[in-house]
Amino acid sequence: MKPAVTARIYRPTPRNLALLARVLAQGGLVAAPTETVYGLAADALNAKACRAIFRAKGRPADDPLIVHVDSVTQAGEIAELNDAARKVARAFWPGPLTLILPKRPAVPAIVTSGLPSVAVRMPAHRAFRELIRRSGRPLAAPSANPFGYVSPTTADHVRDGLGQRIQYILDGGFAKIGVESTILDLRDPNKPALLRPGAISREELERVLGRKVAAYRHKVRPATAAVAPGMLERHYSPRTPMTLTRKLTRNHVQQAGTNEALLFVQRPTGLVGKNVFWLSDEPDGLNQAAHRLFRQLRFLDNGKWSHIHAEFASGSGALARAINDRLARAAAKRK
Ligand code: TXA
Ligand code: MG
Repeated sequence: MKPAVTARIYRPTPRNLALLARVLAQGGLVAAPTETVYGLAADALNAKACRAIFRAKGRPADDPLIVHVDSVTQAGEIAELNDAARKVARAFWPGPLTLILPKRPAVPAIVTSGLPSVAVRMPAHRAFRELIRRSGRPLAAPSANPFGYVSPTTADHVRDGLGQRIQYILDGGFAKIGVESTILDLRDPNKPALLRPGAISREELERVLGRKVAAYRHKVRPATAAVAPGMLERHYSPRTPMTLTRKLTRNHVQQAGTNEALLFVQRPTGLVGKNVFWLSDEPDGLNQAAHRLFRQLRFLDNGKWSHIHAEFASGSGALARAINDRLARAAAKRK
């Protein structure tokens, strides 16, 4: 028998926010919305509470957590801010940007997997900010999904994945951006480097910093991922086998079996079929594509499909890169 669902979904009323902030202050776990994806939050200064995050997600201890703050002052209490960090924080916080900085002693080793650096971000979602403010502490929060599965963009997604392992989920609607934050390594302000592509581009960061930012290095470039998906770290993955091509065409639709789904980035014109899906129905609608990416992968994964054929987003903007990074990892073969 499956364990019972213990999670309850709370609307962000002042009363519920007060209750959930109390849960956090007492060392409990609360899943909560951010503008990127839902996070599974705990008091970042409480090692025991943070250990419970790793347990609930089945996350390996060597994968460090992001700490969420409500002010630059609070960021300065957990990380050593340099001038470069202050500059990008001023430009992009609150927002989908995480900074890797030298950590302060207050942060327990479990949060950073023993590293001398810590990941910090100020999220833009009002309800999450309110939780940080009311709980009076920085909140460590990885994405609120079982380790390796598709990230959650609604409260229901969180309940589907972690409902038997946690008790509290704050509902903040459908996550606006839909892909995780851009991660910028600023440990050495003279050598900034992109560690994960997200909605904020490397070019935007370079403009604010006034210097080059080392590019994110995928193990395999997206264009070659279909050839060697096993080279990529598997993550964000549906259970249904998935393959990627540069561009899906009429031929792919004609050749696919009726139990195989096709996932276009833009709604295809003149192609219909019960197995034809898309991320965006606006022309060049990459915002919408990112917003719907994880929801569509979950939707297809819960369907009767034996295979998902997907295509890469075209273009070189931040969202195209973020979408393609997640797609490539989703399609990577199990090791
Ligand atoms: O948008 C987001 O960033 C979401 C929301 C909830 O804020 N969070 C998120 O967390 O995506 P998570 O745990 O799924 O990804 C955090 C990643 C880790 O996998 C790790 O690669 C990186 O952040 N990270 C954390 N601390 C680090 C450190 N000290 N050095 C290098 N990378 C670090
Ligand atoms: Mg994650």
